[in-house]
Formats: sequence, C-alpha cells, structure tokens
Amino acid sequence: MKKAIALLVVLLMAASLVFAGGRQQSSEGVTRGMGRKIVMGYSQIGAESEWRTACTNSVKAAAEDWNIDLRFSDAQQMQQNQLQAIRAFIQQKVDVIAFTPVVSTGWEAILQECKDAGIPTICVDRTIDGPNTLYNTYIGSDIKEEGRKAARWLIEYMNKIGRGSKNPVNVVELQGTVGSAAATDRQAGIMEILAKYPNYKVIKTQTGNFTRAEGKQVMEAFLKSDGNIIDVLFAHNDDMAIGAIQAIEEYGRKPGEDIIIVSFDAVKGAFDAMIAGKLNASIECNPLLGPQIMDAAVKILTNQPVEKWIPSEEGQYDQSNAAAAYPTRQY
Ligand code: AHR
Repeated sequence: MKKAIALLVVLLMAASLVFAGGRQQSSEGVTRGMGRKIVMGYSQIGAESEWRTACTNSVKAAAEDWNIDLRFSDAQQMQQNQLQAIRAFIQQKVDVIAFTPVVSTGWEAILQECKDAGIPTICVDRTIDGPNTLYNTYIGSDIKEEGRKAARWLIEYMNKIGRGSKNPVNVVELQGTVGSAAATDRQAGIMEILAKYPNYKVIKTQTGNFTRAEGKQVMEAFLKSDGNIIDVLFAHNDDMAIGAIQAIEEYGRKPGEDIIIVSFDAVKGAFDAMIAGKLNASIECNPLLGPQIMDAAVKILTNQPVEKWIPSEEGQYDQSNAAAAYPTRQY
C-alpha cells in the first residue's frame, strides 16, 4: 500500500512538471501562426488622449495573446524619438516594425533603412505622405472620410433643428497635432462638405494638440474674441471637445445647445457627454487595432498576401443612440 501511494505521488509530481513545462512552452514558445516566437518593435506616439491609451492597451494585449515579444517605445509626441526608436529596432534585428507616425512627412529615409535591413513595416492609425510602397501595410481608418461624416452629420442636424439656413453659421475648429494625418485629413474632409454650404463660415481654427487641457485653453481664447456668435464647434478628438465643453460652461453658454459640438473618436468620455446633452455627435475612430496588427505581422512574415490598407471598423454616434450603445463600448 505504502509503495502504491509513493508511486502515485511520484506520478503526480511528474505530471505537474510536464504541465508546468507545457505552460512554459506556451508563454515562451512560438507565436501563433509561426514556427517560432517573433519580435515586434512598436513606436507609439505618446499618451495624449483617452483614445491613445486604448490603442496602446490593445497593442500590448494582442501581443501577449499572439505570444509576440513586443518592444514598445513611447515617443512623447516627437518624430525624432520615433526615428531613434526605429533605428534601435533595426539594430536589434527585430522581425517586424509597427509605428504610428506622429506627423505625416519625413519617413522616406527611415523606411528605406528598414527595407534595406529586410524588416517589414506596418503603419498604424495615421497615414504618411509618399508612395505606399514605403511600407507593407497601413492599418487604420479612412481619416478624410471621418471628416466628411462629421460635416454631413452637422448639416443634417442643423437643418433638423431649423438652424441650417442661418447666415452666417459661425464655425470654430479645434485641430489635432499640426502635420498629423489625423488633423490634416479630418480638416480636409470637413471642409470638402462645408464648401457646398456657403453660409457656413469657419471663423477660427487652431490646434489643441489632441489634449483636453489645450482644447479648453484654445476654446477659452475663441470664446474671448467671439463667444456670443459661435454656433458650431468641430473638435478633432473627444478629449479636446470635453475640454472645450468646460470652457463653454464657464463662459456661460450651453454646450450641445447654444453651441453644437461634433468630435471624433467615440471614447467613453464622449458617450458620457452625449448622454448629458453636452456633446452632439462623435464620429468613431477605432483604437482597438492590436489584433489586426499582430495578424498582419504574422501574415507578412509567412509570405501571405496582405492588403496595402486594412481598414478598421467604425460607426457614428449622437445623442439619439449614445445611451443604447454605451454598455457595449470597450474604450
Ligand atoms: O490618430 C488618431 C487620433 O490621435 C485620435 O483621434 C486622437 O484622439 C489621438 O490622439
């Protein structure tokens, strides 16, 4: 009997070692869809907004899920830091490099260096100027179309509430980071639609760098000069809209009523503001790009075909559907 128990103990110990070995294998072993574990360098631009935090979390979680060794670098909004990080990734001979370009120009040389080193590149969330042969794929939104959607939404809403034929409809704009595709293309999309409605006049436009604090500050300046005549605010992201809402309330006007506000991203803070009646609409820009990035990386490294543009899925929300959508929001 004693011998049988001893044998059982030995068997259980052996089984637990095999199990531990198995776990070890899955956390340190191979990347999903690959015969080995791959290394990805990721150059993120910073942590300027709720959206960006959600994007970073998505990238980190997906890398873990795919069992990819992620080398993550935060550029603090400086292209110079991104170039340095990418050069370091090249030296480390990573398998693939993903990056979100803080601005759209100045990438040709570094992307050529990646090519020369035989390292594929994935451009994430913001596009760059230049031919799409510079990188393997772009994963993200049609940013200009986001701008068009925002302006179309506004025109329809202003007509619905009977303010669309006011002449002039005075519009102010809080832009994102100067030179970023997210700012340039949203502005271009908005202007393309507004150009068809000559009574809509953009009376002020300035950057708030995608941050809540600067959104508030710049809106305060707009209000100081034109406070009583502003009809509409376009904010290139929800964070700046939320900052501006505070400024408008402090000034003594009602955000969402006196001043109609349309922004981008559709983060949870925007839903709170829409449900409170202070923000009118938010055009979604999906930050949960991590799984698409990892999937594309594996496809590229296993020589499977990958489209030059992998679009993210997006909707648009306003005060009519915000409360119903809120429980399903992940960021
Ligand atoms: O590039 C996407 C933009 O960058 C988001 O709209 C904004 O919130 C972010 O910081």
